Amino acid sequence: GKGEYDHYMLKEINSQPTTLANTIEGRVQDGDVVFEDLPEGTFADVETVQFVACGTSYHAAMYADQLLRSAGIRTDVVRASEYDSMSGPVDENTLVVAVTQSGETADTLDAVRTASANGARSLAVTNVVGSTAARETDDAVYIRAGPEVGVAATKTFSSQAVTLALLSQQLAADVPDVSPPEDSDAMLESLDALPGHLETVLENSNAESLASDLIDSQSFFFIGNGLGHPVALEGALKFKEITYEHAEGFASGELKHGPLALVTPETPVFAVATGSDSKTKTNAIEAQTRGAPIVAVSPDDNPLVDVAEDHLTIPDTHPVWAGLLANVQLQLLSYYAADELGRSIDKPRNLAKSVTVE
Ligand code: M6R
Repeated sequence: GKGEYDHYMLKEINSQPTTLANTIEGRVQDGDVVFEDLPEGTFADVETVQFVACGTSYHAAMYADQLLRSAGIRTDVVRASEYDSMSGPVDENTLVVAVTQSGETADTLDAVRTASANGARSLAVTNVVGSTAARETDDAVYIRAGPEVGVAATKTFSSQAVTLALLSQQLAADVPDVSPPEDSDAMLESLDALPGHLETVLENSNAESLASDLIDSQSFFFIGNGLGHPVALEGALKFKEITYEHAEGFASGELKHGPLALVTPETPVFAVATGSDSKTKTNAIEAQTRGAPIVAVSPDDNPLVDVAEDHLTIPDTHPVWAGLLANVQLQLLSYYAADELGRSIDKPRNLAKSVTVE
């Protein structure tokens, strides 16, 4: 049950220190990534990676796609519903990774079936043991987040992103002529602290009061650059899904290519700034000049904090994990905004937990 919480969503948001610890457990040993059933060298014949996913899982896949790219691996991320027009050629050296919490999303299953029929090797990254995705693919990796009841995906996004980041490390180690990024030891070392950092965010967040201050706005914009980009898209998806308010996410630099025309004092901009993402500050200032209140979603020492009207703070950590902490602040923001509006948070109108039609 929901226990002390008003909604499953809030319970699931708050469970993340525990669920994430469970995701990580045993998967980093002596500084190496370890996945049961996928021994070292498993991916030695992989030349290209292609992620397929929908919704929140697509945002987690975007995260992984960027990590693989920075390791020098050829990779792509395709919206499963657009697979037929966007896939391009695949062969036996292509690893198609279906990222799907439920393992039952029709669009994702259809995409991975098409890829397999065309000769690709397949891997499911899923939460549900025995799901269709897990059964039909060549291999499966479980995100171990526990059952998620709220239609809005929260804890499973965090567990997907961490699982995929670890998988990226293994791919970088296995794929010939590629080596893990220089800072990958630092990234793995700082993973231990992530559940504690999540706890800090959950205990100290000012998202509830910020949500109530801004709730009467006309539209809600979310921007981010680099790894902040998928977090901005995910922040906007969550916000619209449960508040029914207009929310959009953009790559920071895209604001000036159109969306800036919508910016007014009635459109707060949540700017996710987690590290080496300088474009976010300059573009946030462009929006601020048009009157938009800026909320920095960032560590305290990020330069954006000096110019922003408000701040959702995150602990200092490796940039790869910082995005996940920023995302948890945005989960809380969406939750409290939806709660203030009296929405049906666990079962938003028109949506289903698992979308089994194409
Ligand atoms: O079960 P899946 O991960 O395949 O589901 C994909 C999307 O339907 C899902 O993430 C959806 O976007 C969420 N309701 C968003 O919170």
